[in-house]
Amino acid sequence: MRVLSGIQPTGRPHWGNFFGAIRQYIDLQQENDGFYFIADLHALTTVRDPESLRQYTIDAALDLLALGLDPDKATLFLQSHVPEVCELTWLLMTGTPMGLLERCHAYKEKKAKGMTADAGLFTYPVLMAADILAYDSKIVPVGQDQVQHIEVCRDIAGSFNHTYGETFVLPDAKTLDHSSKVPGTDGQKMSKSYDNTLPLFGNVKQIRKQIMRITTDSRPMEDSKEPADDHLFQLYRLFASESEIESMAAMYRRGGFGYGEVKKAVAEASEAYFEDARARRDELVANLDFVHQTLRDGAEKARKVAAEVLSRAQRACGIR
Ligand code: ADP
Ligand code: TRP
Repeated sequence: MRVLSGIQPTGRPHWGNFFGAIRQYIDLQQENDGFYFIADLHALTTVRDPESLRQYTIDAALDLLALGLDPDKATLFLQSHVPEVCELTWLLMTGTPMGLLERCHAYKEKKAKGMTADAGLFTYPVLMAADILAYDSKIVPVGQDQVQHIEVCRDIAGSFNHTYGETFVLPDAKTLDHSSKVPGTDGQKMSKSYDNTLPLFGNVKQIRKQIMRITTDSRPMEDSKEPADDHLFQLYRLFASESEIESMAAMYRRGGFGYGEVKKAVAEASEAYFEDARARRDELVANLDFVHQTLRDGAEKARKVAAEVLSRAQRACGIR
């Protein structure tokens, strides 16, 4: 089954990106035909510095490969290397009601804050729909906040099919419930926009410092605490085994511990969890030719599929 997802190269990926999205791609590559791309065209709606965009894009490829994306099993490419997607975007745009896009959260939130939105941000969900439909994708693993965009994609595809006859495959979003919202260092949802992220890669000592600075409540040490309500506990359980989670939960309920102990446990567990990926990433950095070749091979494969779907859509609407 075709599984597809995209990741925007807008900065260094964080724990929320991994547990909410990336980990699912990697798991799904085993049993499926995985297409994963780096959404550099989408990133243009926020990153306006060309050098940063170039760096974030190659970093994203390195990160995905380091985290276990296997080019022998899945296809990895850059969104901009498949121009058929942009052509398809136009075909879809002509049948997309304004109202549908006005309801989309990224645009709506920006407008609500009184900021001016550009046409790129407004039509972002249509490009995303083209990304998905161009490869006859059936499953789209994403974080909770992207589910609305998959709904929009289904609406757009459904209405195209209704107007021109069966052309597109309708995709389904796949989310992971228990880790759908990873909290950040301040307890709100971890997000680049809130400046509360913990990065997947980077200087270990620096990351440890950030973990030690995670905000906690000021209840007395001896109080019993409900683990499920505590963001530090939620972070710990991302990395710990069932039995470790159980004993940490018991410690919370007993009370009489300091949050410093839990932070240390989070640091140790996360370091061990990402240790192999960190080593693999260092190897890849030393072998960038391999990374570029992987992206070229991926784009070639992706374009073949996208070209077929595009010509199917063109024929359906009378362009060919
Ligand atoms: P950010 O909010 O940091 O800008 P993105 O919007 O680029 O992150 O998200 C990339 C992917 O990671 C999306 O699929 C999103 O749903 C997922 N994601 C981001 N933050 C979290 C989080 N805190 N918990 C779970 N998933 C997340
Ligand atoms: N909008 C997605 C995000 O911010 C990235 C993305 C672009 C995507 N195109 C996609 C995800 C197609 C899934 C399918 O995370």
